[in-house]
Amino acid sequence: MRKPIIAGNWKMNKTHEEAVSFIEDIKEKVPAGSKVDTVVCAPALFLKSMNDASEGSDVAVGAQTMHFEDNGAFTGEISPEALADLSIPYVIIGHSERREMFNETDDSVNKKLHAAFNHKLVPIMCCGETLEERESDKTESVVRGQVEKGFAGLSKEQAAQVVVAYEPIWAIGTGKSSTAKDANETCGTIRRILSELYDQETAEAVRIQYGGSVKPENIGGYMAMEHIDGALVGGASLKPDAFLQLVEAGS
Ligand code: G3H
Repeated sequence: MRKPIIAGNWKMNKTHEEAVSFIEDIKEKVPAGSKVDTVVCAPALFLKSMNDASEGSDVAVGAQTMHFEDNGAFTGEISPEALADLSIPYVIIGHSERREMFNETDDSVNKKLHAAFNHKLVPIMCCGETLEERESDKTESVVRGQVEKGFAGLSKEQAAQVVVAYEPIWAIGTGKSSTAKDANETCGTIRRILSELYDQETAEAVRIQYGGSVKPENIGGYMAMEHIDGALVGGASLKPDAFLQLVEAGS
């Protein structure tokens, strides 16, 4: 059985004080030994304080991106080695906003996945199609390319630990969520692609999240689906009450 994973992606929101008080607020309310992995991916500036604040609870913290090199002349970048040094457990890799606005490619996503495993970070690898690609029936070929190139060179053991976030780009921040049935179909396609790349056992172990306008009112539909093991949530993860409702629905 795959353990569900609900991850908030705050994107570029909140101050340091707000970030820490969010963790203080939710940490007592996420039950110890919870049936769901609860992750908050926050701006890098807040990660150390949030990680300290979450100590002893079942709430984990994640970065929203990182570089694939450990160090060097990469002004403004986040080192995987530094994340590991701070014991940050998760990192989002290849979010569509990074792909669109910050030149992230399937090749850099692949290098970052390898870097994550070199530092024992759990990667949440994003994939998903644009509206134009969906309307021209290219969803499967787009996610196939992203998954095949992203996972290149990962061992079975590593592949099984990747969290894949399927996020149709047209559903992100638009309020136009995918139907649960459509999202499940593409998550099932991703699992089939993984079974072709590895084997059925590995594919069954990979947790696949849906992301795109998920909120407390619609998460139940996604969580009831065979191939959806959680959600990557932007806007609705910013308020503690809504985020806790999402975590509850994931349990
Ligand atoms: O990483 C999260 C996604 O981009 C979804 O954002 O829930 O605001 O649509 P959203």
